[in-house]
Amino acid sequence: MPIETVDLLVCTTCRSASPANPLAMPDHDGRPGAALVQALQEAAPEGLRIIPVECLSNCSRGCTIALRKPGAWTYVYGNLAPELHLPAILEGAQKYRAAAQGLVPWRERPEHFRKNCIARIPPLEAPNV
Ligand code: FES
Repeated sequence: MPIETVDLLVCTTCRSASPANPLAMPDHDGRPGAALVQALQEAAPEGLRIIPVECLSNCSRGCTIALRKPGAWTYVYGNLAPELHLPAILEGAQKYRAAAQGLVPWRERPEHFRKNCIARIPPLEAPNV
């Protein structure tokens, strides 16, 4: 049985990874999302596809990611710091992949996901939810 693939989109253009100091990181220091992409590409298990993107429209609360898969809800999460939240992202992505329609029970989500969900978007296949 093939492993279901989940897309993990990572904004590479957010300027801050610090919720306490948004937009404070100067351009020349590099973007934290790029570091997050690299860390995820090194640590991601089979079935988790890392996709760098430019802006998920959550700029003041970066880093920002989104999880999506066919037939499932899409979730956007923010306030992520590459050096702090890699384990939570991988845990949350694995649970999302395993959950029908991507609906992980709230209590089973990593704490950072529970407190920093920016948006959830219905599956394309379910126009009346
Ligand atoms: S620049 Fe990252 S969400 Fe806009």
